[in-house]
Amino acid sequence: MKLLLLLSVLGVCWAQYDPHTKYGRTSIVHLFEWRWDDIALECERYLAPNGYGGVQVSPPNENVVINNPSRPWWERYQPVSYKICSRSGNEDEFRDMVKRCNDVGVNIYVDAVVNHMCGSGVSAGTSSTCGSYYNPGSRDFPAVPYSSWDFNDGKCKTRSEEIESYNDIYQVRDCHLSGLLDLALEKDYVRSTIAAYLNHLIDIGVAGFRIDASKHMWPGDMKAFLDKLHNLNTTWFPQGARPFIYQEVIDLGGEPIKSSEYFGNGRVTEFKFGAKLGTVIRKWNGEKMAYLKNWGEGWAFMPSDRALVFVDNHDNQRGHGAGGASILTFWDARLYKMAVGFMLAHPYGFTRVMSSFRWPRYFENGQDVNDWVGPPNDNGVIKRVTVNADSTCGNDWVCEHRWRQIRNMVIFRNVVNGQDFTNWWDNGSNQVAFGRGNKGFIVFNNDDWALSTNLQTGLPAGTYCDVISGDKIHNHCTGIEIYVRSHGLAYFSISNTAEDPFIAIHVDAKL
Ligand SMILES: *[C@@H]1O[C@H](CO)[C@@H](O)[C@H](O)[C@H]1NC(C)=O
Ligand SMILES: *[C@@H]1O[C@H](CO)[C@@H](O)[C@H](O)[C@H]1NC(C)=O
Repeated sequence: MKLLLLLSVLGVCWAQYDPHTKYGRTSIVHLFEWRWDDIALECERYLAPNGYGGVQVSPPNENVVINNPSRPWWERYQPVSYKICSRSGNEDEFRDMVKRCNDVGVNIYVDAVVNHMCGSGVSAGTSSTCGSYYNPGSRDFPAVPYSSWDFNDGKCKTRSEEIESYNDIYQVRDCHLSGLLDLALEKDYVRSTIAAYLNHLIDIGVAGFRIDASKHMWPGDMKAFLDKLHNLNTTWFPQGARPFIYQEVIDLGGEPIKSSEYFGNGRVTEFKFGAKLGTVIRKWNGEKMAYLKNWGEGWAFMPSDRALVFVDNHDNQRGHGAGGASILTFWDARLYKMAVGFMLAHPYGFTRVMSSFRWPRYFENGQDVNDWVGPPNDNGVIKRVTVNADSTCGNDWVCEHRWRQIRNMVIFRNVVNGQDFTNWWDNGSNQVAFGRGNKGFIVFNNDDWALSTNLQTGLPAGTYCDVISGDKIHNHCTGIEIYVRSHGLAYFSISNTAEDPFIAIHVDAKL
C-alpha cells in the first residue's frame, strides 16, 4: 500500500516529462507545415516501420491569412481562434490523422500557440484560415471569444508596447513579442479558454504539446492552465497518463530568464545543444569533437531528463530565433548528418529530428531575404508530400527523417536505449568514438586526415553492418562491414573525404 502510494506520487511528478512513446521508441520528428492527410500516411508507411515515436505537427488552430508577403510560414504563429482549421486541414482530417498515427503507435504532439493572438498591425477582417472575423485594433476575437479585457495592454510598461529589453523579465512576459497581442494569462477566463482548447486536442488523442513562446509567459501562469489539462485518452494511453509538455524557452545564457524556472511545468527546449554542436562540427572558435567527451550537463546544459534536444528547428534553420550562424541544417548536408548522428547516438536529452521544406534561400548582406517563405503550395494550398521510387520526397519536401543515415540512427537510438555512455575514445582532435553499453558503437572522423585505428567497441564478437553507409537487408550488408573480434576490439578506417565520415554499428545490424 505504502509502495503503491509512493509510486503514484512519483508517477504524478514525472508524468509531464514522459513523452509516452510506444515500443521503446525514443525520438520524434517535426513534420513542419505538412498536411494532416500526409502525416497520417507517413505514420503508417514510414514512421511506425522505422521506429519513430511521434510527430510534432504545426499549429492546428485557425490563424491569420497573410498575403503580403504571400502566405509566410509564420502566419501560423498568429492565432485568430482555437477552431481546428488551418492550411494543414480541418478538424475531421486532424482527427483522422491522430487516430491513424495512434493506431500504429506514433504519437502526435501539437505546437500550441497560446502566449498571444495575431499581430497588432494586422487589419480587421475575415482574412483567416476559417473565415472568422477578428479586429486586432479593438482586441476583438469573437470566435474564441477574447476581448480587450483579455490582453496585457495595461501591464506592459514600454511606450512602444513592444519587448524592448530582454534584460527586463516584466517586458519579456507582459509586452508584445514582435507586435503579437499578448494574452493576460493571469486571468482565469484566459487560462480556462486555453485549457479548453488543449483539452479538446487531448480528448481527440494527442499525446502532448510544444508550447510556443513559453519564455514570454510567467511559469506560474502556465502551470495554472497546465493543471487544468485532462489525462491522455485511454483508447491509446495508460490510465492517468499526463500530457507530455515541452516549453520553448530560448536560454543561451546571459539573460535573466532561465530555463530552470520552467522545469516544474515540463521539459524545456535546450537551445544551447544545436548552437554548440554546430560550432564543434564546423570547427569554429577552436572547438573540436574531442571536447564532446563530457557533452550534456558537462557543457552547462540543463539536466538530461528536462531537455528536449534538436540540431535545428523551424526557426533557427532560417536564421529566426536563436543559435546564430553555427546552426547546421540540411543545406550543409554532410556536416548535418554527422551532427544528427551524434545527437541520436548520445544519451543526453529527448531527441527531435527536423523535417523541412526547401525554400529559395537568398542572402543579401548576410541576411536570407526569403526567410519568410511558406511551404510548397499551389495558390496557397499546401502541396502533397510525394514519394519517389528511391523513397526520397518530391515537391520540395526535404524529408531529412527519411535520409538513410538519420533514419538508421533513430533506430540505433531505440536499440541502445537505457545503455550507458561507454568506451569513449578521441585522438585529441576531431576523431572520436563512443559506445552505448554492449548494444552500439559509433566512430567519427571530422579531421582533415584519415582515421585508421583499433577501438574497443564493447560489442559481442561478430560481423556488423555499418548503418551509415548501408543497410542490413536479409542478413546481407549493402554498406561497410565491421569485424568485431573477441574481447570487443574492431578495426576502423574512415577517409576524411568519405561522403559520410562516420560509422555506426549496433546489435540489430549484426550479420
Ligand atoms: C478517446 O478517443 C476515442 C476514439 O476516438 C473516443 O471515442 C473517446 O470519446 C475519446 N475519449 C474522450 C475522453 O474524449
Ligand atoms: C588523430 O590526430 C592526431 C593529431 O592530433 C594524429 O597524429 C593522428 O594520426 C590522428 N588519428 C589517430 C587515430 O590518432
